[in-house]
Amino acid sequence: MTHAIDGGKPVRDTPIDTDKGVSYLSEQEEMQAVEDVLRSRSLFRYYGPQLLRKTEAFEQRLRDITGAKYALGVSSGTAALQAALVGLGVEDGDEVVVPAVTFIATVGAVINARAVPVFAEVDESLNLDPISFEAQVTSKTKAVVPVHLANVACDMDPIMAVARRHGIRVLEDAAQAMGVTYRGRQVGSIGDAGAFSLQLSKNITTGEGGALVTGDFTVFDRAARYHDQGGQFTTSTGDVRELTSGEPFIGTNLRMTEIAGALAAAQIDRLERIVSSMRGFAAEIRRRLGDLPVEWRRIPDPMGEGGSVTMFFESSDTAIHFADALRAEGIPAGRVYGGRPVYANPAVLNQRTAWSVGCPFNCAEHPTDRTYAMGMCPRSEDLLGRSLSIGIGPMMTQGDVDDIVAAVRKVAEHLL
Ligand SMILES: Cc1ncc(COP(=O)(O)O)c(C=O)c1O
Repeated sequence: MTHAIDGGKPVRDTPIDTDKGVSYLSEQEEMQAVEDVLRSRSLFRYYGPQLLRKTEAFEQRLRDITGAKYALGVSSGTAALQAALVGLGVEDGDEVVVPAVTFIATVGAVINARAVPVFAEVDESLNLDPISFEAQVTSKTKAVVPVHLANVACDMDPIMAVARRHGIRVLEDAAQAMGVTYRGRQVGSIGDAGAFSLQLSKNITTGEGGALVTGDFTVFDRAARYHDQGGQFTTSTGDVRELTSGEPFIGTNLRMTEIAGALAAAQIDRLERIVSSMRGFAAEIRRRLGDLPVEWRRIPDPMGEGGSVTMFFESSDTAIHFADALRAEGIPAGRVYGGRPVYANPAVLNQRTAWSVGCPFNCAEHPTDRTYAMGMCPRSEDLLGRSLSIGIGPMMTQGDVDDIVAAVRKVAEHLL
């Protein structure tokens, strides 16, 4: 059979639907929830002519689902990470360990919290390697941000063990994994705090939006105050402004709108079905392709995995050709993050922020001897280069799964 990339007939000529929460936005529940907020004319979460408290309802559902004591809806996943870092007490010049494989927002949140990102390797799970994390620990290390990448939970037990051994706070970046479990616990609720994204491509969505959870009142209180201009509405009841954890500080505005709160509250009821549907498709694809001469991404908790298909080839050349050939067959596929670690971003390599070059990564007031260069996490670079990830969505059909399996086999016959 001639490959589509060589002019043959593609396995598919219609796209596979890999949309997640976005697929349900025109359902009755979502439409009604938004309409109710518009009719109430109360789009601000803290007051309005007829406040419906939709954001509060979403936070309650998130607490119920995650088992976390506190939850806060915010304006994005990045906002959730940044507010959580402030909540955890990260300060100027503290070091925060992040994996070499993540979205740039994880790094940006650390820098915008005035801390210094330190990169650790991922292992064959493409998630933080606890041994590499421990090797990066110094007296300046305040926090670590394990990232549950593409609906696969990090191996949290060894990560938590390292963190506890060194007194390091753990912020789970669960932006890409809401609803996924690890050893029976919801990701985001295992560390000291967890951050979720509700951006358009995520498991459930409000277009832009996010949330954080924590079991620690001080973390919650500091994060809530930070997200609300230091606590303008969060800490006020009528005329009384309560200062609960420490002195007041300047915050910013990362508040969730009631429209986003209403959508999030409607979508969260679909979360379990969305995640289990993707998990089923991913497991079937891996099982049916189990005989291929490739290495599969390690899933630390197969019971809790949320739906993701990633494999590694022997060389990056094969991965590139395989991805090109699969896309020509009509299958959504590519190397994870284009085969490059997050620190390949020139802003990271050159330590550039919006306010200056080299600060606070490495300025006189916030000295750090950390420098960044390609090659600093060689195992992560190697794994990314050889990776191939296939898109999965909850609305896929059995026919889509059959086509993915057929296309991978067709390409593998020539390339492996
Ligand atoms: C791993 C990771 N962290 C953080 C974020 C940031 O989320 P948002 O886009 O909602 O700010 C994203 C999402 O895009 C992400 O994938």
